[in-house]
Amino acid sequence: MTASSTPATATTPTSEARVFLSLAREILQQMAVLIRNSYLHDLTNEVFADPLEKAQTALKDVMAVEGSFRLERSGQEFYANSIRVRMEIRNLHAYKYVWNELEKRNLGGFNFESVPSVQELSQFLSVLAETRSATETDDKQINLALQEKGVTRIQALPPRPEEEEGPDEQSALDRRQRAIHAYEQVLDFIRESMTNLDSPAQINMRQAKRSVQRLVDLSYEEGEGFSLAGMAAIKSHDNYTFNHMVNVCVLAIAFGQRLGLKKQDLAQLGLCALYHDMGKLHIPLDVLNKHTSLTEEEWALMGNHTVYAARTLFPLIEQDHATLHRILVALQHHYGVDGNGYPKLRLKQQQSFYAKIIAIVDTFDAMTTRRIYQRQFLPDEAMSILTKRSGKLYDPPLVKAFINCMGIFPVGSTVALTAGELAVVVESNPDPDRVHQPKVNVVTDVEKKLLMSAVLVDLSQPGEANRAIIKCVDPEPFGINSVHYVV
Ligand SMILES: [Fe+2]
Ligand SMILES: [Fe+2]
Repeated sequence: MTASSTPATATTPTSEARVFLSLAREILQQMAVLIRNSYLHDLTNEVFADPLEKAQTALKDVMAVEGSFRLERSGQEFYANSIRVRMEIRNLHAYKYVWNELEKRNLGGFNFESVPSVQELSQFLSVLAETRSATETDDKQINLALQEKGVTRIQALPPRPEEEEGPDEQSALDRRQRAIHAYEQVLDFIRESMTNLDSPAQINMRQAKRSVQRLVDLSYEEGEGFSLAGMAAIKSHDNYTFNHMVNVCVLAIAFGQRLGLKKQDLAQLGLCALYHDMGKLHIPLDVLNKHTSLTEEEWALMGNHTVYAARTLFPLIEQDHATLHRILVALQHHYGVDGNGYPKLRLKQQQSFYAKIIAIVDTFDAMTTRRIYQRQFLPDEAMSILTKRSGKLYDPPLVKAFINCMGIFPVGSTVALTAGELAVVVESNPDPDRVHQPKVNVVTDVEKKLLMSAVLVDLSQPGEANRAIIKCVDPEPFGINSVHYVV
């Protein structure tokens, strides 16, 4: 295969192209590690050994087939031998990092004519480290410096001219990538606004609405092997609070749509979800991030996040009456349909419809994330806990609808198949009689060895009769990062 002869917009790469793209991602990933390390350590440090070897091996493998390797940025994207390298959430930081490093030096990318030696790669890094804070570097200067250091097999490339970037980069992005962008944007927004929040007046509602609207629009688009709910498989153990706010937002929108809510109501529900835990920002960080179990007083303090959020939002009612929905959700999402949750209210209230929805998706996301004081539940375990508590904490018809929406093996679950392979659920089956037969990405062979690229399979197809789901399994021991296969 000659990747450069494949059109850049190819949407269904062949298996050879998939292997090529996965090597290109590996090179990008290792470049990010190497550049970052070159700022922190002397190049003789042993931290370079492993990534240098990995980068060189990937380059060797690419060139065995392709002859040469050209990595370029164009717009917000990377292209490897003119094929767009699809952004994946697990590589997102590496992408952004390398992209910024190139932009900083006014470079378009690099060309590898043949496999560089480890020594050359190391010299290449020293040139990058030396130009770290140069204000007016370009490809010519970098190439000169590379030549001086005897690096002949790597050339810096100039930025690609504007007109080559395509008429509209945004429209060229496929749905999956736009979904990742949208998720990241909401996450950035919520992180930024919540960390700097001193008063409710600072909540940038217009921007929040725009961000949520983008997710609502995405949830209306069809996509093969993709569902918005799958985005909630993105978990962050370090940054739990912010990721959780966005995940609950994504899940609420996906669920609300399945419930038949109109677009404008979905946007409202999404906003309520986004701010449901904003009261946690009033909890001292040492309690919020405590590494041991909480004391009774600390639990009580945590429980107050419902009241804190309602208090913060209350003054905003005057500007926007819809704030009332957000207050009710913030106040009632742990209250329970029977009113026996928290906060304890003197006058019993009825949970609002949005609060009932968000209580369910909130619990689902919280349970399926590993946290300091709680083990991570497998998605099907979380579903059965929701079912057990339905009628007390959760509204029974809504719990049923949620299971129907997510499937008994929810999107993002890693499952064992009767044929012996492991797979990640990527799309639930909307047919209530076939909820046990979702679309999955088969990610290992029968020996449980990871495949180079996953294979999308619709388990409801007659030809897949020998592949049935046995149960959910913990992906970690098998080295499976489920989110990688979902988004
Ligand atoms: Fe909460
Ligand atoms: Fe929550």
